Amino acid sequence: MSTIKAPNGQDGEPIIRAMMMPRDTNYHGTIFGGIILSLIDQAAGTVASVRARSGVVTLKMNEVIFHNPVFVGDLVSVYANLMGVGRTSMKIQAEVWAHRRDGGDPVHVTSAELIFVAVGPDRRPIPVPAE
Ligand SMILES: CC(C)(COP(=O)(O)OP(=O)(O)OC[C@H]1O[C@@H](n2cnc3c(N)ncnc32)[C@H](O)[C@@H]1OP(=O)(O)O)[C@@H](O)C(=O)NCCC(=O)NCCS
Repeated sequence: MSTIKAPNGQDGEPIIRAMMMPRDTNYHGTIFGGIILSLIDQAAGTVASVRARSGVVTLKMNEVIFHNPVFVGDLVSVYANLMGVGRTSMKIQAEVWAHRRDGGDPVHVTSAELIFVAVGPDRRPIPVPAE
């Protein structure tokens, strides 16, 4: 993985890296936007759950604009960072980058801001513990 270039401004490893498969494509041969939304949700949810040390639910995802297509065979990297913590909620910023098979610079696909809420076994909000 060390030969995969990190995009500018991103330190460290992505939360998710996934190779895009033919099953994920529409009939134009590009990846369904919903597949990328699912990866964003999973990556951001992982960051929120680790921070909350509990289950979390997605409360909100802001406007998502796809700036570039994703193709079969692209390696998609989803970066996610904790931007803020409220009493029960957490704000996560996610970025999606595609590494084409030609090994060139990664292409920015989209960014999103999400709010997750920590929940207990009854699925009601619970406080995010202090660090
Ligand atoms: C998320 C959920 C538990 C929140 O329940 P609720 O009764 O509205 O909870 P609260 O009013 O106490 O709000 C919880 C937190 O969300 C924040 N919040 C609520 N609505 C918000 C909004 N529109 N934007 C930003 N934050 C919001 C509140 O400010 C609060 O944060 P804080 O404690 O850090 O101040 C509930 O709405 C739910 O279960 N939603 C479904 C989640 C889900 O299933 N997602 C997957 C869909 S398939």
